[in-house]
Amino acid sequence: MNEQQRVLVVGANGTVGRHVVTGLLTGGTEVLALTRDPARAAQLPDGARLVPGDLSAARTLAAAAGQADAVFLAWPLHTAEGAAEALAALTGNARRVVYLSSAAVRDVPGQEPESPGRPDAAIESLIAGSGLRHTFLRPHGFMANALRWAAEIRTSGVVRGYGGAAGLTLVDERDIAAVAVRALTEEGHDGARYALTGPASPTQAEQVRIIGEAVGRPARWEEIPRAAARQQMVDSGWPLGIVDGALDFVAARIDAPEPVTDTVRDVTGTPARTLRDWALDHAELFR
Ligand SMILES: NC(=O)c1ccc[n+]([C@@H]2O[C@H](COP(=O)([O-])OP(=O)(O)OC[C@H]3O[C@@H](n4cnc5c(N)ncnc54)[C@H](OP(=O)(O)O)[C@@H]3O)[C@@H](O)[C@H]2O)c1
Repeated sequence: MNEQQRVLVVGANGTVGRHVVTGLLTGGTEVLALTRDPARAAQLPDGARLVPGDLSAARTLAAAAGQADAVFLAWPLHTAEGAAEALAALTGNARRVVYLSSAAVRDVPGQEPESPGRPDAAIESLIAGSGLRHTFLRPHGFMANALRWAAEIRTSGVVRGYGGAAGLTLVDERDIAAVAVRALTEEGHDGARYALTGPASPTQAEQVRIIGEAVGRPARWEEIPRAAARQQMVDSGWPLGIVDGALDFVAARIDAPEPVTDTVRDVTGTPARTLRDWALDHAELFR
């Protein structure tokens, strides 16, 4: 039974948000979709109502304010600046917020997040202090991140990167969205901090092989030095404040692969999708 009447989805055209929109509509929940660009309305599924607004300017969020019973919040900005004002505007009459946070957030007071420089912990604190009922989704890496390898798999079948031996669990963005839909529309998720993973923690080199096999284009990993990887990240626009933390994170997973959780199955009743499933469903992008 849907308790919520209307859900505002922030990041409705995003990697996770677009599946949240579809899941809510399928379940009969009314959806308001926030976007900075009204021209994107055509990309939304039928039934979602577009609401204009920019998270970085709270005054633009007036149209979205006070209209929803619950909010799915993505915060795809590099800092938490302006988040208090934006949160207050977006959650006007809402009873509940489900925040797309990150597995990097730590609950131990004083313990640094694993990706320093990210705003997720600050946004969690804001929400926790707001008095709103809330659920924090803390996904590990999205399977969609593997799309950064698509051009190399298509052209040469060789993916060059640092940390091929690092064991990383990737979670399918559709599974994150399925958990979000449950948390937005069901009772029983208040105060939860859901660590979301896929069903396994393959090394990056194994991930490339799995994708190549699934899509029918054999692919392999070729290791490059950390310094070269760092330069590539900087050249491609990674904020300087998070590059080294991201590389440290990968280095630490060479001897200690990320653990997996059963949270997707526990919350949705369906096991987390595998990387092979994901690759088969996105195969045309790798061929
Ligand atoms: N990638 C990972 O592996 C990973 C892992 C854990 C956590 N996360 C977290 O996931 C979040 C990103 O989620 P995602 O990948 O689904 O997002 P995304 O695909 O990057 O999409 C971002 C969405 O937010 C909207 N947006 C961007 N800037 C905005 C602004 N100033 N005001 C209003 N809307 C704005 C965009 O919509 P319009 O263009 O229509 O405005 C877009 O639909 C981040 O907070 C990240 O920390 C990511």
